[in-house]
Amino acid sequence: MILSEVFIGSDRISQRVKELASEISASYTASVSVSGTPLVIGVLSGAFVFTADLIRAMTIRCDVDFMAVDSYGSAMESCGTLKFRLFPKSDLRGRDIIIAEDILDTGHTLNGICEYLREHGVNSIKAAVLLDKPERRQVPFEADFVGFTIPDKFVVGYGLDYDERYRNLPDIHCLEDERDINRV
Ligand code: IMP
Ligand code: MG
Repeated sequence: MILSEVFIGSDRISQRVKELASEISASYTASVSVSGTPLVIGVLSGAFVFTADLIRAMTIRCDVDFMAVDSYGSAMESCGTLKFRLFPKSDLRGRDIIIAEDILDTGHTLNGICEYLREHGVNSIKAAVLLDKPERRQVPFEADFVGFTIPDKFVVGYGLDYDERYRNLPDIHCLEDERDINRV
């Protein structure tokens, strides 16, 4: 596997994350149904960078927690069997949740997380995803806030990994099979 040139550069990411943070802040300021301080739940490990940037650009008060979910399958594809590895420490009952996720792909992970949150009595759920690959959906899921809609490409960097590698890259790159590249 080889890394492509920069696919989404750090400046564009940073600009877009600020826009998302403003949209999210405005939607909670405007909402009368929201009872208290919203709780941002970052989905580890992929969304740790996105969550850190998003919460610091939000202009409303929020609490922050994390959960970790593994979706089994190959290194590049989830198969829909989820394993929860870390649960939020906060009491979720009655809370307004903003899920911060790196990428919405087949939809299994976000569906499973929403089910878990509903079972724990949350008041509302909104999902903020940095990237969305709608072509890959296997179960219906629509995020409330989307950074970039991208085609069916495997991407790494800005927290996203391939087998735990590349998370620390500041830009987002595509990971490509050299055999495909040699063919063109
Ligand atoms: P889903 O359950 O298929 O929607 O996938 C969600 C998880 O799969 C994400 O949280 C990522 O960890 C991982 N994933 C999906 N697509 C990519 C990708 O292009 N690069 C890196 N990780 C990905
Ligand atoms: Mg992930």
